[in-house]
Amino acid sequence: MSAPTPKAGDKLLLRALRRETVERTPVWLMRQAGRYLSEYRAVRAQADGFLGMVRDPELAAEVTLQPIRRFGMDGAILFSDILLPLEALGMELCFDEGGPHLPRPVRTRADVEALRAVEPRQALDYVGRALGLVKRALPAHVTLLGFAGAPFTLASYAIEGGTSKSFLELRKLMYRDPATWELLLAKLADLTAAHLAYQAECGAEALVLFDTWAGTLTRADYRRYARPWTERVVRAVPAHVPLVLFAGQAEHLFQDQLALAPTGVAVDHRMELARAFDQAGGRVALQGNLDPGALLSSPEEVARRTRALLDSVAGRAGHVLNLGHGVLPPTDPECVAALVETARSARP
Ligand code: CP3
Repeated sequence: MSAPTPKAGDKLLLRALRRETVERTPVWLMRQAGRYLSEYRAVRAQADGFLGMVRDPELAAEVTLQPIRRFGMDGAILFSDILLPLEALGMELCFDEGGPHLPRPVRTRADVEALRAVEPRQALDYVGRALGLVKRALPAHVTLLGFAGAPFTLASYAIEGGTSKSFLELRKLMYRDPATWELLLAKLADLTAAHLAYQAECGAEALVLFDTWAGTLTRADYRRYARPWTERVVRAVPAHVPLVLFAGQAEHLFQDQLALAPTGVAVDHRMELARAFDQAGGRVALQGNLDPGALLSSPEEVARRTRALLDSVAGRAGHVLNLGHGVLPPTDPECVAALVETARSARP
């Protein structure tokens, strides 16, 4: 006899996000679909580049499901990218070997004023269609995750025109023309909020807000130039949909992230997870935080580190196992398998 289909809210990952007692710690990985998988490379070789995969709902759904089939994670994050909503503002976006490239970055008041938001359901309809396809194919116990970029991180790409190390253009605009900065961040916050709501409508059961570069700010500047717009997004997300906030290298911002009262905070691998639990004091769930670089070791070492991390959490409620950042392209899939299997066989 087959097991009864669980009610949507009973899924392990959703229960852990609500900090309920769970029979084992749920696990999913940032960038769990990607170049480290041969089946991903096979789809990519046939597609019109990365953007061709993302914009084709069938291909995006297929690639989203690949790691679930191979490893059995508890969450499936839609295959897409945080930068696509910038196209809904009228920005041009391409991806080449060096990563994302926006050939006409915004640098002036006139550039920001020219950004015109098109409704996500129109400009990003392929996201909704891909979510629908994944939802239909997903095993009943797996949670479907949607995501977006936080306003500050999106602004960094919109202004710099790509990934930056020093954020010189961003700093110039942010400090020298705060009114233009605020206009840009408000537009990005409204777009992000609308995009997250659209994904929830289309079947996303939990949402992740990626603020990859927030940790490059001091705490005072985070509060002045980034947090208000992240807060606007957090407040706008439909109340019934759990939201996890991610920021890289941002231990100094942890208290500020707690103050935003999201459902969960993703903890970077540089922060000790047990200490994060102590500081959070049961106010939020915590996601994390194995070092993605450690997955370049061996399956035995990954299993050992996974057990050690779970032991350090010591059964505290509200833990979602993940990495501190995304899976790296040279990762051996056997190391991902070791992580997921160790989590699935452990008891919290
Ligand atoms: O996590 C997942 O499996 C879901 C899909 C996903 C991608 N990007 C796919 C992707 C998600 C959630 C993202 C988020 C994203 N994109 C972030 C925030 C999270 C983070 O990593 O900090 C950022 C900053 C981006 C911007 C971006 N996209 C960069 C800088 C790059 C190039 C560098 C790189 O990592 O390859 C991308 C491309 C990208 N996005 C790839 C994937 C699988 C690589 C595409 C390929 O070459 O096949």
